[in-house]
Amino acid sequence: MPDLRHYSTLYIVPMYQIDTSTTRGRRGDGVGQRGSDMSGGQLYDAIGATYTSTRRTEPRIAARVWAALGDARTVLNVGAGTGSYEPADRDVVAVEPSVLMRAQRPAGAAPCVAAVAESLPFEDQSFDAATAFSTVHHWQDPIAGLREMRRVARHVVVFTFDASDTGWCRRFWLTRDYLPEVADLLTGRPSLTEQARAIGARIEPVLIPWDCADGFFEAYWRRPEAYLDENVRRGVSVWARVGPDAEQRAVRSLRNDLVSGQWAERNRDLAGLDAAELGLRLLIA
Ligand SMILES: C[S@@+](CC[C@H](N)C(=O)[O-])C[C@H]1O[C@@H](n2cnc3c(N)ncnc32)[C@H](O)[C@@H]1O
Repeated sequence: MPDLRHYSTLYIVPMYQIDTSTTRGRRGDGVGQRGSDMSGGQLYDAIGATYTSTRRTEPRIAARVWAALGDARTVLNVGAGTGSYEPADRDVVAVEPSVLMRAQRPAGAAPCVAAVAESLPFEDQSFDAATAFSTVHHWQDPIAGLREMRRVARHVVVFTFDASDTGWCRRFWLTRDYLPEVADLLTGRPSLTEQARAIGARIEPVLIPWDCADGFFEAYWRRPEAYLDENVRRGVSVWARVGPDAEQRAVRSLRNDLVSGQWAERNRDLAGLDAAELGLRLLIA
C-alpha cells in the first residue's frame, strides 16, 4: 500500500475543496462537446450530477467482486466514481478523473486520487489487488489502463461487458429494437478477449438480477417502464453518447410499444426470468 501523504497536495481532493457549481451537469453539454467526443472524465463532469440518485451498490454483483478479490487486503479502485464498489473491510484507495464524481463521494469514503487508468501514479505492485467497475468502456486506451492495473497490483478484477460477441447488440431488447446506435459506440474498441489477454485474465459471466439495485444500462431489462424516466437515463452515459435525437426516438418508440402491448408480446420469454445473461463479465487475473 503506497504512502498517500505523498499525494496529499497534488492528487487527493477532499470533498469540501471542490466547487461543483461550475461543473454541475447539464445534459452532455457541460464542456460544449457531444458526449461521444469527450474523454471519460470530461463526460462525467458534464453528466454526473445526478449519478447517485439511480447508481448504487448492487449487493449480489458486489459479492462476486469481493469473492474474486480473495484475501487481498489493499485494493485500488480505478474509475471509482462515487464509490459504489469499495469493500468496507479492506484498505481501499480510489482513482477517479472526474471532479464532479469525486465531489459526490460520501464522507468517510476511501481516499481518492485524481488520475486516469492509463497512467496510474503508483509504484509497481503497490496493492494486493486492483478493481475497475463499469468504467473500462470509458477509457481512451483500455489495454494501457488494464496493463497499468496489472503493473500496480498483484491481482486484477474488472467488471465489464462482452461487446465482441456479435449477438451482444441483438441480445438486449433495448439495443436490438430501440437503440441500435449503441453498436457505433463500440467501433474500434478492443474486444473482451483482447482485454483479457492483455492481463492474462479468465472471463466469468455475471447474470443481472431482475431487480438489480444499480441502475446501469442493462439493469432494467425486466422493468422497461424505467427507461421512460429521464432520471434513470441521466444516470447512464450511453444516452448522452448517442445524442438527443436517438434518445428521444427510442423513448417514444418504447412508450408506444408499452402502451400497445407490443413490448410485452415481443419479450414474453423474460417475464419468468429472475436473472438475465446480457453479456456482463468479470475479468479475473
Ligand atoms: C459508469 S461510471 C462507474 C463509476 C463506479 N465504478 C461505479 O460503478 O459506480 C464510470 C467512471 O469511469 C470514470 N473514468 C472515465 N475515464 C476514465 C479513465 N480513463 N480512467 C479512470 N476512470 C475513468 C468516469 O469519470 C466515471 O466516474
